[in-house]
Amino acid sequence: MTREKILDFLKRKQDYVSGDLIAGRLAITRQALWKHIQELKDSGYDIVAVPHLGYKLVSCPDRLFPHEISSHLDTRLIGKKIYYFDVLPSTMDTAMGLGTKGAPEGTLVVAETQTKGKGRLGRVWFSPKYKGVYLSLILRPDILPNQAPVLTLLSAVAVCEAIKEVCRLDTQIKWPNDIFLNNKKIGGILTEMAAETDRVSFVIVGIGLNVNNDKKLLISGASSLKEEKGEPVNRLQLLQELLRRLESNYSLFRKKETVRILDKWREYSMTLNKRVKVYSHKEHIEGQAQDVDADGGLLVRVDSGITKKVMAGDVVHCR
Ligand code: BTN
Repeated sequence: MTREKILDFLKRKQDYVSGDLIAGRLAITRQALWKHIQELKDSGYDIVAVPHLGYKLVSCPDRLFPHEISSHLDTRLIGKKIYYFDVLPSTMDTAMGLGTKGAPEGTLVVAETQTKGKGRLGRVWFSPKYKGVYLSLILRPDILPNQAPVLTLLSAVAVCEAIKEVCRLDTQIKWPNDIFLNNKKIGGILTEMAAETDRVSFVIVGIGLNVNNDKKLLISGASSLKEEKGEPVNRLQLLQELLRRLESNYSLFRKKETVRILDKWREYSMTLNKRVKVYSHKEHIEGQAQDVDADGGLLVRVDSGITKKVMAGDVVHCR
């Protein structure tokens, strides 16, 4: 707490602040202040100390520290409780464990890297350290399991909105939840659910974004915000905006205004009105992607003229 307050002081002043002043305001000794400053320096904050002038914050580390995420974050639910890790196998497993133990709705798990990042359909999500945003969010909506896919759609909308706001880039969604930029994948969403009989107990929304990844470390067909924008992106600002957008879209969902989420999803969609091949565990179908319905399912008009609804699977755009 004290360290956060010291940081706040230094950030607001953007110049030298006398040690006496900070110590006095926080009612701590000069030695205690010095110790806190050393700890801040150890975690990457560049703080210079000049006799008679005091301390000055030169730069902050590129880290998603919880106190930085919470700073000036005005959400009421999303990210109110944050678990931060330098390294985790997967934020999904940690969030699942926390959810099972009763962690409140809105609890956020963030990691700087994942050693076993999980993608959809059993794939791996490459999570290089300090390059991306890797998070899992615990939600406890009062819904039936078949309504859960809408949470994925609303998360995809939140991602596109946040990227637009922070990076001024126009992303698109490939059904159900791949985030594309200039026809290259830059993010994905994985949703897992814990349900009891016919009621959802909680849902984990996992979001992975390639933010400052270098081209040479990206697989073919993938890119990062930095590569497409031509300059690095502030991961912290992006994450904060993402939490705000998740909160506003989740609030629409809770007010049963799913129609508004779907309308936004349609605007961001790169799948609708395309000829698609859908590979699901049940069947392979080919046809025209027509719409998403209120459950988040994709409606595909196959060549016989029938419209089929797909709830999960891999989509390939034919043209
Ligand atoms: C996909 O497009 O296949 C979904 C990728 C989801 C990746 C994120 S990164 C944070 C969270 N933890 C994981 O292990 N996976 C999700």
